[in-house]
Order: sequence, then structure tokens, then C-alpha cells
Amino acid sequence: MRILVTGGAGFIGSEFVRGLLTRRTDRVTVLDALTYSGDLANLAPVAQSPAFDFVHADIRDADAVRRIVPGHDAVVHFAAESHVDRSIASATPFVTTNVHGTQVLLDAAVEHGVGRFVHVSTDEVYGSIDTGAWSEDQVLDPSSPYSASKAASDLLALSYHRTHGLDVVITRCSNNYGPYQYWEKLIPLFVTRLLRGEQVPLYGKGDNVREWLHVTDHCRGVELALDKGRPGEIYHIGGGTELTNAELVDRLLDACGRDWNAVRRVPDRKGHDRRYALSTDKIRDELGYAPRVAFDAGLADTVAWYRDNPHWWQSRGSTSEKVVVGA
Ligand SMILES: NC(=O)c1ccc[n+]([C@@H]2O[C@H](COP(=O)([O-])OP(=O)(O)OC[C@H]3O[C@@H](n4cnc5c(N)ncnc54)[C@H](O)[C@@H]3O)[C@@H](O)[C@H]2O)c1
Repeated sequence: MRILVTGGAGFIGSEFVRGLLTRRTDRVTVLDALTYSGDLANLAPVAQSPAFDFVHADIRDADAVRRIVPGHDAVVHFAAESHVDRSIASATPFVTTNVHGTQVLLDAAVEHGVGRFVHVSTDEVYGSIDTGAWSEDQVLDPSSPYSASKAASDLLALSYHRTHGLDVVITRCSNNYGPYQYWEKLIPLFVTRLLRGEQVPLYGKGDNVREWLHVTDHCRGVELALDKGRPGEIYHIGGGTELTNAELVDRLLDACGRDWNAVRRVPDRKGHDRRYALSTDKIRDELGYAPRVAFDAGLADTVAWYRDNPHWWQSRGSTSEKVVVGA
């Protein structure tokens, strides 16, 4: 199979590509605009593979996308603006990349008869839930410009299935952690600052609840959706560890040998969702999915990776330059 992976130079997309090229015989083309969060260095371990190609392009550029898509059997679409705090500061790139860029890709996939289009999305499209867990038919109720743009792209993808018969599968995942995550997100921001002996900013009371899944478990779910997902269906990928932000910070302080004196409380994020929770019965029952990485071991490995690879995060701007906390 020849697979086009958009956003394959980012955190999750690069994990997906490294995994595919290590374990399978498919050819993989990465299409990536190399924005602030994308970096070819994330693909260095597979850059020499004869099955790997890289195209530097923007998914909003319809001419470029139309040139690149032909010859691919499947598209796995990770490319997005992905940081909630940035979307609150300026929503425009979120709408142009996440909504318009997705539509450009969908058009090209229809035009060139792509066999499968996996659209990678997020639990944030549902808004916030106090108790229980969402199933895949939950009404979308996004809170941030980021999640609203992802919800819009999900609906566009589904509409291309119904209208054009495009073989679309959507995955919605909870918060990811692991190596190669750009420093602005909660875990790498805190780890890199704590390792440097700096303070870390915690939103509000720290009682927001997130479910943390190792990036390799997310990518295994996306791969199952690519191989075995039913056309037009949505699959949740989760089953990670549910923690309040304060509980997570406790573990990060412990892992980095610091204490609560390193934590500075900052005013809460606007429109901050209190809790996300996904039911994962469908992907477990239909595709045989279950997460494999235990959170404590995965977090220890992640902290060790940032400790052992300071050149990776130190060359990507200062992690101290502004207060951005989020996931
Ligand atoms: N990080 C999470 O916890 C999480 C959880 C659930 C779902 N997701 C989804 O997974 C996907 C990947 O997230 P991530 O955390 O790896 O993000 P990331 O920001 O690390 O990577 C995004 C990648 O997309 C590329 N990109 C951005 N705009 C582009 C454009 N216009 N054209 C081409 N490439 C462009 C960037 O260069 C980068 O390589 C996103 O769709 C996100 O919504 C993320």
C-alpha cells in the first residue's frame, strides 16, 4: 500500500510514520508544511528508508495537494494546528488549516480515487463531561476555536463519505504524551522547565481532568482504523489514565526531583473544559484495540527521553518564553 501521511513531521504523525516504516512494507509519503511544531528531525530515524518520501507542502495549497495525492491508496490526515491556547490567541490558522486544509485534501482524495481516508481527530470536539464517558454518537459541542475547527473538519469528512462515497474513517483520541512532543504542551513544557530548575505555571485549581494515552497506543489505534475500520465510522482511541492536572503535576514533580514550590498558579484558561472521557467499547469490540503502555512506565520513559535529548528541545525555541499551559 502507498500511504500519504499529512502532518507526519509533528509529534503524533512522526510516531505513526516511524512505526509504519519499522514494522511494515508500505511506502509512506509525508506531506508537511513544517510549521513551528513540525520538524524533519522527528523523522531522522527513518529518513534513509527506501520506502520513505517527504514533500514540503501546505494542505491549504490545492494545486500542490492535487499534485501529491495521485498514486496513494490511503491518506492518514494528522496535519493540524493543535494547541488550544494558540487558538484562543488567534483562530485564523486553525480555521484555514484544520477546516479549509481538510476540505482541500478531501477534494483531492475524491478526485484521485483514494481508497481510504483516515481523519485523525480529538475528544475535545464533544466539549466537557462531568461524569460518565462519551460514545461515538455524542452530539458535538466544542468549547475552543481549536476544538470547533476539528469538529468542523470531522463533519466535512463525514459529508464526503455520504455525498461522494469517499471511504472515510474518523478517529478521536484523548490527550497524548511521549517523546518528540513540541514543548508548548503540558507534559513537555513542565518536564523541560523542571529539568532546568525553573518554575512551572498551573492553570486555576488544577482540577481539570484529562485522560492520558501514550502516543504509541494512539498510533496503534489509527493503524487499526486504517486497516480494519468500517467506512463512514468514528472510533474513539483512549483507555489511558484519567488524572486531574494537579495529580499529573504531582507525578511530574516526582519524576523530575522537584516539589510544589516549583509550581506557580496562573489564571485559568478561557472556556477551559473541565473533563474529557471517551468510551472505547467500539474500537475494542470491533477492532480488538487495547492500550499497552502503563502510564507510570510511559511517563518515566518520556521524562527520560527529554532528559537524554536536551538538544532536541533546546533547539526549538525557549520553553520559558511565555506562559502556555495546556493539552
Ligand atoms: N496531541 C494530542 O494530544 C492529540 C490528541 C488527539 C488528537 N490529536 C490530533 O492529532 C493530530 C496531530 O497532533 P500533534 O499533537 O502531533 O500536532 P503537532 O502540532 O505536533 O503536529 C502537527 C503537524 O502538522 C503540520 N502542519 C500544520 N499545519 C499544516 C498545513 N497547513 N499543511 C501541512 N502541514 C501542516 C505541522 O508542521 C506538524 O508537523 C492533530 O490533528 C490533532 O488534532 C492530537
